[in-house]
Order: sequence, then C-alpha cells, then structure tokens
Amino acid sequence: VRPVGQPTRGKTAPNRLRKTDTFLALAYAERLRGLRGCYVDLGFGALPVTSIETLRRLRRLNPALRVIGVEIDPVRVATARAWAEPGLEFRLGGFNLPLGPDETAGVIRAFNVLRQYDEAQVQDALDRLASRLAPGGLLIEGTSDPTGRLLSFLLHERRGAGLERVGLVMAPRVDAALEPRRLQAVLPKSFVHRVEPGGPVDRFFAAWARAWQASRRAGAEPRVRFAAAGLELGRQGWTVDRRPGLLRRGFLVLGPDWPAAAGAAAP
Ligand SMILES: C[S@@+](CC[C@H](N)C(=O)[O-])C[C@H]1O[C@@H](n2cnc3c(N)ncnc32)[C@H](O)[C@@H]1O
Repeated sequence: VRPVGQPTRGKTAPNRLRKTDTFLALAYAERLRGLRGCYVDLGFGALPVTSIETLRRLRRLNPALRVIGVEIDPVRVATARAWAEPGLEFRLGGFNLPLGPDETAGVIRAFNVLRQYDEAQVQDALDRLASRLAPGGLLIEGTSDPTGRLLSFLLHERRGAGLERVGLVMAPRVDAALEPRRLQAVLPKSFVHRVEPGGPVDRFFAAWARAWQASRRAGAEPRVRFAAAGLELGRQGWTVDRRPGLLRRGFLVLGPDWPAAAGAAAP
C-alpha cells in the first residue's frame, strides 16, 4: 500500500514532545492503563527520540504499552530500527497507517507534521487517521517550537464512527517570562489564518495576557499564577478545563468551540 502524504523536514529534539506525555498521564491515566490498541507516533522525524521517550514515560502507567513509530521517509525508518525493542517498532507509512487488519490505535500523535501540509489536505489526513482509532481512542495533532518550550495541540476522540474534537491544549513552559501571545506561533493550521487583529483569536490572547499580568496578585510562583490566570479566563466566559491538576502543571485546555465561544464577558 502506498503511503499517503509527502516527506517533509525531519527536525526533532529530545524532550520536544514531553508535555504530550505528561498531559496524557495527567488527563487520561485510566485510559492509558487499559489502553485498547497501540500508541502510534506518526512522523517521528530524523531520529526516533520522541517515540522512545514516550514508550519509557507511558510504560510506567501501562507496562504492556506498544509504541509504533511511523515515517513516510524510508531512510528514517531504516535508521530508527536500530532502536527497536520489544514494545517499540518502526514502520514505513503515511496517513493511511500501516497497521494490520487486527490492529488498532489507542492513541495517535501527529506532531509537527500537519503544519507542513496545505490546509486543504488536513481534513482528509485526520479522517484517515481516525478510521484506525479504537473506540474512545485519542488523536493528538499539534505543533511545537524546536525545543518543546511551546506546544499547542488539538485533542480528538473517536466516538462512534466519527472523530470528535475534545479541545485545544496550550502547553507553554511556565515561568515568570511567559508571554501567552507567543503560543500564536504554534497554533494548529486551521487557526493560523484567523489571527487578524480584533478577531476571536486575537481577543483570546489579549485576555490571557491581561489575566497573566493580573495573576501577580496570586503570588510569585509561576504555576500558581498560571492556574489563577486560567480560572480568570473561565470567569470571563472562555471554556477552560478548571482541574487544578492540569492548570498547575501548565496545561490550559480550551473547549472544542475555541475561539468561537469568544468570552461573552470579554471586552
Ligand atoms: C518535523 S518532523 C517532526 C518529528 C517529531 N514528530 C517532532 O515533533 O519532533 C516531521 C516528520 O513527519 C514525516 N511525515 C510527513 N508526512 C508524513 C506522513 N503523511 N506520514 C508519516 N510521516 C510523515 C516527515 O518525513 C518528517 O520526518
């Protein structure tokens, strides 16, 4: 079967996608423990470092976890195979995942892959991936900066025959130098063209920046401030996951309608 897609730049880095592992372990620990199907790391890049790290981290929750790294570039697959081990394998493939008829994916991560495609190709890619997800399976599709200090990703879940958007996760490095606006650079492709001044995305980042500044009142600890700013956004009408376990670890999880539910109370 011919892989669907095209080879793109293969840049990656150790710990670049660490926050996706932390997020799953915090928000979906139970699902991971009883995971149906394997974890597919689509487009792992020039070296399979993120696939290896994900296996190590998530195996703490599920010792039987299987990670399959998929690449459309045959040289990258051949290189990666030197790191194969029980529970970790590498296969040549594209958006039409190279899974056998009896295999499904419990999680698919496509990180720093779709941003390199035309927006018109994205929905077809997501549909193809979704068709291989187990019921309740998760699809993580996002973008990061080169080092993994700034991430944003869409979270989808397979429900029935379809794919449902659960939310958009903003995951910046949380320290006193945080500038919420910088996350605009790593938004999923579908939002990139909607960042016009005064539009909903712009208003969201303005509201977040104000809430982050105002959070100084909550103290000096950046994670406490991050959580306070997230709760403030919720009070202003943005759909925010208020669980302290997520906010305190630097995950701002916005609702599936973001940025359309543009804060009725926002100026
Ligand atoms: C920029 S790298 C990202 C590496 C890693 N996921 C990360 O975030 O650090 C993108 C990789 O995706 C691969 N790729 C692009 N389209 C693909 C497709 N349709 N199926 C599988 N791999 C693909 C490219 O060959 C490239 O190695």
